[in-house]
Amino acid sequence: MQPLSIRTATAILVASCLSLTWTGTPVQAADKKEEKTIYKDARATIDSRVEDLLSRMTLEEKILQLSQYVLGNNDNINNIGETVKKFTGEEGSLIFVGTDPRLRNAMQKEAIENTRLGIPILFGFDVIHGFKTVFPIPLGQAASWNPDLVAQACRVAAREAEATGIDWTFSPMVDIARDGRWGRIAEGFGEDPYLCSVMSATSVKAYQGDDLSAEGSIAACLKHYVGYGASEAGRDYVPTEISRQTLWDTYLPSFEAGVKAGAATLMSSFNTISGTPASANHYTMTEVLKEKWGHTGFVVGDWNAVDQLITQGMAPDRKTATLYAFNAGLDMDMVDNCYRENLADLVSEGLVAQERLDDAVRRILRLKFMLGLFENPYTAETEAKERFLLPEYLETAEQLAQESMVLLKNDKNLLPLKKSSKIALIGPIVKNRFDMLGSWEGRGSEDDVISIYDGILASKEGEFEVNYAKGCDFDGEDTSGFPEAMAAASKSDVIVLCLGEKRAWSGENASRSTIALPEIQEQLLVELKKSGKPIAVLISSGRPVDLSRIAPMADAMLEIWQPGVMAGPATAGILSGKYNPSGKLAVTFPYSTGQIPIYYNHRNSGRTGAQGEYQDIQSTPMFEFGYGLSYTDFHYGPLTATLPGGRTASGTEDDAIEISSGQKFTAQITVTNTGDKDGKETVQWYICDPYCTITRPVKELKHFEKQMIKAGESRTFTFEIEPLRDLGFVNEDGERFLEKGDYYIMVQNQRIKIRII
Ligand code: NOJ
Repeated sequence: MQPLSIRTATAILVASCLSLTWTGTPVQAADKKEEKTIYKDARATIDSRVEDLLSRMTLEEKILQLSQYVLGNNDNINNIGETVKKFTGEEGSLIFVGTDPRLRNAMQKEAIENTRLGIPILFGFDVIHGFKTVFPIPLGQAASWNPDLVAQACRVAAREAEATGIDWTFSPMVDIARDGRWGRIAEGFGEDPYLCSVMSATSVKAYQGDDLSAEGSIAACLKHYVGYGASEAGRDYVPTEISRQTLWDTYLPSFEAGVKAGAATLMSSFNTISGTPASANHYTMTEVLKEKWGHTGFVVGDWNAVDQLITQGMAPDRKTATLYAFNAGLDMDMVDNCYRENLADLVSEGLVAQERLDDAVRRILRLKFMLGLFENPYTAETEAKERFLLPEYLETAEQLAQESMVLLKNDKNLLPLKKSSKIALIGPIVKNRFDMLGSWEGRGSEDDVISIYDGILASKEGEFEVNYAKGCDFDGEDTSGFPEAMAAASKSDVIVLCLGEKRAWSGENASRSTIALPEIQEQLLVELKKSGKPIAVLISSGRPVDLSRIAPMADAMLEIWQPGVMAGPATAGILSGKYNPSGKLAVTFPYSTGQIPIYYNHRNSGRTGAQGEYQDIQSTPMFEFGYGLSYTDFHYGPLTATLPGGRTASGTEDDAIEISSGQKFTAQITVTNTGDKDGKETVQWYICDPYCTITRPVKELKHFEKQMIKAGESRTFTFEIEPLRDLGFVNEDGERFLEKGDYYIMVQNQRIKIRII
């Protein structure tokens, strides 16, 4: 759907806001006069303010705090629900679909001035990879392996959103995803629990800052809790089959990391987990999250998730759905009105305990106090140009986009392109701006995107002569543009063929049965290959793509994801050599769809060698997790360990380093840039526990670090190891353990052997 211009959106929003019917209770004079009630006293502790306010609330007021609705013209096709016709001003939260703080303020005024207790509304929105300044999709961000840069992007997103009137983002999405058919793989940080955990904690801290009430801070929401990424066959909204063991070793770690980082909220997911819907799952929402991890924030259900317990086959009606979801620990009901309609009866019938109700309300009120909403309920009504797309925001967007791009192939160093080359710039994404934003583009607009075409024309480093042809569309069968593409190729030294996916092909409710690009795009490549010119293929996608037919024809390949507003400058920077590519895949690229699911951290097979492998295609992926080339060469020195007391050991196969489970030690490696270009290198530290009573993955990422290494220089990378944390595993009850025996610490093709005694 075409995003609305700011002005149109604002007009619609204000109009829709005015069409809401006011049904609130008139302000009680008595309460207004009562000046310093505890909950209004900013000097009182948050806990005492919460308790004071709770003690004043009626049952109905409490239930309204547990309800969320939509404010504004909602253009999300997957989120179209019942139009809000009644607005009391006492709702706990509104999804704020707008870019004008005046809309928020108008609604907030109702809540503050025209309700009995004046409880401010919490405004939430999906700020997934930027608000107006749109960054690369999260799958691309993860490929940067640069948490500091991801944090900067989250800070920018928080600033733009907060200055517009948003208190709460439904982000980060930390679902582990290993099936490229699933459209939502674009929204998360890839296949690995550790990388995803780092990005989860990073994003939470960056959105929230040190103080939620400070300017530019917004509350985070870890989603989708939990296991949504295990969607069967990559279809959306379907059940998942996840054992407790897999829940703990694969799907929960990124949530636990985010909770430890202070995430204010979580969103329950749409999937059933081995029979029990996540949105009615007492084990995950209450026993694990609230009891075991001690989370003091709240859980919001995903869109209509309570009502969906009916379609999922658990609850026969909305009242039972409410009972199951609420008693399982889902605190706030997103848009389906189930809580509002049914909770009061369930409380009076004794099926929902008063303590459970109070607990849920307390959690929501606490966040409102922490955000400072009682003191500062309104947002400054600044102009859009003061808030959005500021030069430093765009600089971060360009850096993150270029660091997210992954150089997959570069035969004969075709890239970077020689200065002043004549390039045939061909393909459906060259001049495209709309699809560069990816799914969940916040309030981003294609008008703000610099296309690849414009980026390359403006490249000072490249000074390229460009011969453009579209060649073909994203899909369809129209080959009429092929001759023009061939003509452009024949006038040029090199072909840069820009292929890819539409943004609507990934995201929510956007799964595909194949991860291959449509045939027409591959046909264009086949045609251009006849020109004999070297070809660099750029792929813009929201998922790992099948490159099995493309790779043999391409001399170079660069995955650019959906790079956001700075698509052009970032891509041109890589092509011209202004930037040295440093991205590495956060998700395995299968050889073809038939290999799915395929991921690096699988367990061992019962048979070794070729037994059990596919007979028709290779069994190894096209590109592994962690893979990515550079324009320079890095040489890795010997991998060593430093033991307590300072002794250095190399931990050879016959001479394992003996260590007790409580002893911390370090491993280190020195990397030298032996090429002639400065570049960033990410050292990835894996471990392997070859024998364990609960069998473990063949490799597990446990640490990584990215550093700039200038040409000819060396840098040392260190991994500080705490045996239980870094070598241990988790069982199906979520308990960490460390067995005695041998372990390996691995970097590239080197390993050292550790023996826990
Ligand atoms: C449904 C999506 O699953 C979720 O990610 C999103 O936050 C909500 N809708 C609200 O837009």
